[in-house]
Amino acid sequence: MKAIAVFPGNPNSVHLAELPKPKVTDIGSGRGVLVRVLRVGVDGTDREINAGEYGAAPKGSDFLVLGHESFGQVEAVGPNVTELKRGDYVVAIVRHPGTSIYDQIGTPDMTTDDTYFEHGISRVHGFLTEYYVDEPEFLVKMPQGLREVGVLLEPTTVVEKGIAQAYEIQRRLRVWHPRRAAVMGAGTIGLLATLVLRLRGLEVTTFGLTRKPYLNADLIEAIGGRYESTQDLPVLEAVKALGRFDIIFEGTGFSPIVFESMQALAKNGVLVLSSVTGGNRKVEVPADKINLEFVLGNKVMVGTVNASREYFEMGVRDLAQAEAEYPGWLRRLLTHPVKGLENFQELFEKLTTAKGAIKVFCEVAPV
Ligand code: BGC
Ligand code: ZN
Repeated sequence: MKAIAVFPGNPNSVHLAELPKPKVTDIGSGRGVLVRVLRVGVDGTDREINAGEYGAAPKGSDFLVLGHESFGQVEAVGPNVTELKRGDYVVAIVRHPGTSIYDQIGTPDMTTDDTYFEHGISRVHGFLTEYYVDEPEFLVKMPQGLREVGVLLEPTTVVEKGIAQAYEIQRRLRVWHPRRAAVMGAGTIGLLATLVLRLRGLEVTTFGLTRKPYLNADLIEAIGGRYESTQDLPVLEAVKALGRFDIIFEGTGFSPIVFESMQALAKNGVLVLSSVTGGNRKVEVPADKINLEFVLGNKVMVGTVNASREYFEMGVRDLAQAEAEYPGWLRRLLTHPVKGLENFQELFEKLTTAKGAIKVFCEVAPV
């Protein structure tokens, strides 16, 4: 079977590989689930791995199959699998457990190990292929009514974990009634963060670079959010005009925004950081002022990396609620399909250069 792979560390090594088709029995104890891949999304992580910036092959392999945003259908299950059956739609959890206590309790996303395991990213092959086998513990069932948008679940979990952890942290306040939220970035993650915060009933302002008219701004307004281009209204100006925010979700990939966000946070507020920034950028910041306001305002800042089963399940519920509340909205995020694994060049071209792309994804097989 075909797969899209890279040689980690080698820039632009993306290529089509030929691999043996896996079997249910590849996993012992009768707990194997064979999944036929239908769709796989790609994002900045795939781009950076193909640029050679990071990524690691599994032990004993010189290549890494890419793809961590999966959506597939169960083709066969081992005799001891009761959780799933043939025909079920599933999304695979990206992280696999390491050795720390957090891994042992089912939260490998909170691992304290130095090496971690992520499908298509670090030490485990990804899903840009035709089939894979995994245990039911690592598969999350999607209702069939969500099959057209199921490929959005993995990026949604990034947002789910960040927001759920923010609410968890805010239990320190005994009572927390957040009203005003800001989202930094209006790409896929920014749009999904806007959605999840709107579903929680918050007033949301989402900041992006691009000026209107802009599809992403339309999408934000379609769910009752407010869009601001920072070219016209920089974040700190917006704070003067609109006030500060109780919760801020940062997903721009541009680290200086973190320090502006710290200054845009209201008293008792919480700032969630989700951008993986591999660079070496330096900025000057008003350190005394930021620190003072954090101390006197009891503010919190938390980092979040994706994601354990709990957040995948939350994501399924929120995607279902989104379909009910804003029918057709999620589908509008699926802007750039590419048919067939063999068109991997086109997939990466769209990922790096397509103007106006929200979600670029490979249609491995029809849903
Ligand atoms: C993925 C996450 C992953 C993170 C860090 C993101 O692109 O969606 O699942 O944890 O990269 O590798
Ligand atoms: Zn990703």
